[in-house]
Amino acid sequence: TGLFTYDSGYTATASCKSAITYIDGDKGVLLYRGYPIEQLAEKSSFVEVAYMLVNGERPDAAQLKAFEAELAEEAGVDASINTLIGSFARDAHPMAILAASIAQLSAKYHDSLDLADAEQRRKAAVRLIAKVPTLSSLIYRHGKGLPANAPDTSLDYVSRFLKQTFESADGKYELNPHVVKALDLLFILHADHEQNASTSTVRLVGSTGANPYASVAAGVTALWGPAHGGANEAVLKMLEEIGSADNVESAVLKAKDKTSGFRLMGFGHRVYKNFDPRAKVIGEMTRQVLGQLGVTDPLLDVAIKLEQAALQDDYFVARKLYPNVDFYSGIIYKALQIPTEMFTVMFALGRTAGWVSHWLEQQVDPEMKIGRPRQVYTGHAVRDYT
Ligand code: CMC
Repeated sequence: TGLFTYDSGYTATASCKSAITYIDGDKGVLLYRGYPIEQLAEKSSFVEVAYMLVNGERPDAAQLKAFEAELAEEAGVDASINTLIGSFARDAHPMAILAASIAQLSAKYHDSLDLADAEQRRKAAVRLIAKVPTLSSLIYRHGKGLPANAPDTSLDYVSRFLKQTFESADGKYELNPHVVKALDLLFILHADHEQNASTSTVRLVGSTGANPYASVAAGVTALWGPAHGGANEAVLKMLEEIGSADNVESAVLKAKDKTSGFRLMGFGHRVYKNFDPRAKVIGEMTRQVLGQLGVTDPLLDVAIKLEQAALQDDYFVARKLYPNVDFYSGIIYKALQIPTEMFTVMFALGRTAGWVSHWLEQQVDPEMKIGRPRQVYTGHAVRDYT
């Protein structure tokens, strides 16, 4: 392989040092800043988790309050964003619009941003966490042909997003505490996952000195793919196609057939060779949330059967393929009335907290270099142009 170590897909290459998130893929352990994901899911809130990811430690009550107030204060976006979103076709994919509108934020804030100033870097990170839900609401409303709506800054982070998204023309939206809690929990589970493809993309772009808005816009496009965050959308489409528990067996057969081009979406993970701890939390909450909301979804039966069938199948056992975070998340999003094409936007909303934390960490890393992998050249030797 010549002069360089060949490592396609970076399966054995650490690209940075990081103190944010720890994964033990063999044991199925996930820690944010040292705290187990199961404990955060049970006891914390997304805003507290976001603060902790960004700042390194959990906030005290006053810090949390101040952070919530800052997120509310920064939630608004310029009218130019509405013009941009309005210029997209109504059926354009929401992830395309999200990437474009985050890039547009750089047009407004980048020129005045001094990357050498710690407070300005922090502010940019907080702005992104505050504005991505607002952008997501505007994108949803555009897709549905609804008029743009402003965020209600008197509400908490998740309630603000829900109200802005679903409020009717006469200003009505009844907040359901079960919906708020479920969404908050999903955002916690999505908040960070160390050097996944989108976070690595944010860091790669950030390593060039590009501004944080540009870096996060790139992260959004990396998240879009079905092998990464786009899997939550792909899972729901797959479950709909399978349609009934009777067809589960043939779906498993097809997923094992390498010539079919079909993989079991929501299964397998580069790092976890055991249960994805996020999938355990989501699996348990799915029934509970559907019960609380009085929703019966036949797709839940299909998913449960599919999970059972795969977990007992030699092919999946031998390859240590377990359900990942995306396997059940779509069923919950659907129960929360979030349309399928918005699922990956919901993932991006939670993951923004992780992306900006990695960007911040990278900016003060004394060992940080521009990301510049090498290659193993397989082309022609030198030849004459005649
Ligand atoms: N269905 C069927 N076979 C699979 C699957 C699957 N979902 N995932 C992996 N395999 C097989 C694969 O064919 C290979 O078999 P063999 O050793 O015989 O060639 C083996 O398992 C190892 O797979 P790989 O593709 O080399 O593993 P990877 O680490 O490169 O890929 C993955 C990880 C997540 C991209 C992959 O498991 C996959 O495509 N899963 C489905 C998509 C998905 O659910 N993605 C969400 C990931 S979690 C959330 C996130 O990161 O956003």
